[in-house]
Amino acid sequence: MTKTPIAILISGRGSNMNALIEACAQPDYPARIALVLSNNPDAPGLETARAAGLDVMAIDHRKFPKDRESHERAVDAALVQAGVEIICLAGYMRVLTPYLVGRWHGKMLNIHPSLLPAYPGLDTHARALAAGDTEHGCTVHLVTDGVDEGPILRQARVKVLADDTAQSLAARVLQQEHVLYPAALSDYLSRR
Ligand code: GRF
Repeated sequence: MTKTPIAILISGRGSNMNALIEACAQPDYPARIALVLSNNPDAPGLETARAAGLDVMAIDHRKFPKDRESHERAVDAALVQAGVEIICLAGYMRVLTPYLVGRWHGKMLNIHPSLLPAYPGLDTHARALAAGDTEHGCTVHLVTDGVDEGPILRQARVKVLADDTAQSLAARVLQQEHVLYPAALSDYLSRR
């Protein structure tokens, strides 16, 4: 089968990246990882990716202090050089400019830990608890200019339990994220 070359962009621990690595290792999965890239040279996920034998790269955003777009231009050049066709953001903690979003229109996915359009941004689990929600979850969506706003590809739901804390809820949502992201990517690739 033809495997679409993807990049995974991370900033931290990379557990969603790991779920995608495991999926891509399956012979019948329609993607392969051409590059794992981080804006944070100390992201623990980079080590995980290296250990899996993948090409990894860090482009430190702090070296581009005055200009978000010039950092993105460096990132974009690395992605093109690696032959990437689809980007999966997986805990990539940078707000993107219209430059990168425009360059990868329809080709950049993100995973977000809430049932969008509820709770874009940070602290989603605490916000769901504070609102008294009985259901919470995660979303894979296409990236557009607005933060956490693009077309929804797939969602997974979890029940909120009476004794949930933000941590316990986050842990159950994360388990769902690890199933959702590979499934949503595979789905999206097969529909392209
Ligand atoms: C996940 O909860 C993801 O939904 C959000 O950032 C977190 C990243 O976790 N965008 P990890 O680095 O994949 O473990």
